[in-house]
Amino acid sequence: MDKPKVVLGVSGGIAAYKACELLRRLTESGHDVRVVPTESALHFVGEATWSALSGHPAVTQVWETVHEVPHVRIGQQADLVVVAPATADMLAKAAHGLADDLLTNTLLTARCPVVFAPAMHTEMWENAATQENVATLRRRGAVVLEPAVGRLTGVDTGKGRFPEPGEIFEVCRRVLARGAREPDLAGRHVVISAGGTREPLDPVRYLGNRSSGKQGYALARTAVARGARVTLVAANSELPDPAGVDVVHVGTAVQLREAVIKAAADADAVVMAAAVADFRPARYAEGKIKKRDGEEPEPVALVRNPDVLAELSADRARPGQIVVGFAAETDDVLANGRAKLARKGCDLLVVNEVGERRTFGSEENEAVVLAPDGTETPVPHGPKEALADTVWDLVSPRLA
Ligand SMILES: Cc1cc2nc3c(=O)[nH]c(=O)nc-3n(C[C@H](O)[C@H](O)[C@H](O)COP(=O)(O)O)c2cc1C
Repeated sequence: MDKPKVVLGVSGGIAAYKACELLRRLTESGHDVRVVPTESALHFVGEATWSALSGHPAVTQVWETVHEVPHVRIGQQADLVVVAPATADMLAKAAHGLADDLLTNTLLTARCPVVFAPAMHTEMWENAATQENVATLRRRGAVVLEPAVGRLTGVDTGKGRFPEPGEIFEVCRRVLARGAREPDLAGRHVVISAGGTREPLDPVRYLGNRSSGKQGYALARTAVARGARVTLVAANSELPDPAGVDVVHVGTAVQLREAVIKAAADADAVVMAAAVADFRPARYAEGKIKKRDGEEPEPVALVRNPDVLAELSADRARPGQIVVGFAAETDDVLANGRAKLARKGCDLLVVNEVGERRTFGSEENEAVVLAPDGTETPVPHGPKEALADTVWDLVSPRLA
């Protein structure tokens, strides 16, 4: 079988050197990659590096190898174009359809999915011109990743950082796997909670649960590949931040509620995959609780935590917002799930059976998605990503 053909467009940002790692990941996983750098990109990483790593000449202008008509052919033949890093300049050119070098010509001739991984200083990213260009590209069906937050060139820190190349590779893999299907969540903002909350007893101890965050992270990654802008509220997960996702790290149920409600204000859908503790210790000890000779420990009194799923379902931040819950049950899974769906008032409830060796921390899951009209969608045992895609398959047509 022919290898999938990927065009790696590299524009002139300092993160161009990180695109070498993305190129390696793509070639080593069996993709045929043509690198198309801009002239500015060659100031950062030279033609020799791109050619040697890709096994193809890395051409910048339409005037080289003219007999092969590269300004048309490269785009036409591609299965995926990924521009990483995408400069503010490149986003502007792409949004306006300029074609003054080989990469911009390729973007106009490509019929395949296109992914942009912008990287720039925060001021450039937040500039109204850049934001409008990004919105234009997303509206046309391109996947434009939100940059990460962190160290930028020089001493600056903020939003605009190039996401980890391994995570951009994951986005490319998923977008390629979707083939010609439209990014059905393009222009949508989705909020996902993931992980498990920890409710502190004292400065060193907490009440927690076994959730790893893998299901919520799979929901975030699949939503990015389907074109959504994604906010992930992550409770105590050790997983790497997915590329293109705004990640808000929280610890407790109360913090999670605050972050989810804030992000949900302009969200089209909210998926509550986090394991949120129902109770928290009534009292937090400022100092470590000591073991005293001859004394039994005091019992731990608990109080209820807010029910975030019920609250989101009852007070929709905007009309037509879709709210999805997850219910982990150990017995009477379906009956408990149906009762919970009615009680919480959400649009979909993903019910799965959990146990010490089931679901938590595993790469796989098995579930039934319940809807208020009685529909049940069983999802057979398989990768958490497959369940995530089924959730979006059900959410997408419900969006206003
Ligand atoms: C040291 C240096 C670093 C730069 N880093 C970035 C960057 O990270 N993102 C960006 O949008 N522009 C950056 N620029 C500006 C671009 O190189 C400039 O806008 C150029 O015209 C982009 O051309 P291109 O889009 O054709 O590659 C940088 C410039 C310099 C000199």
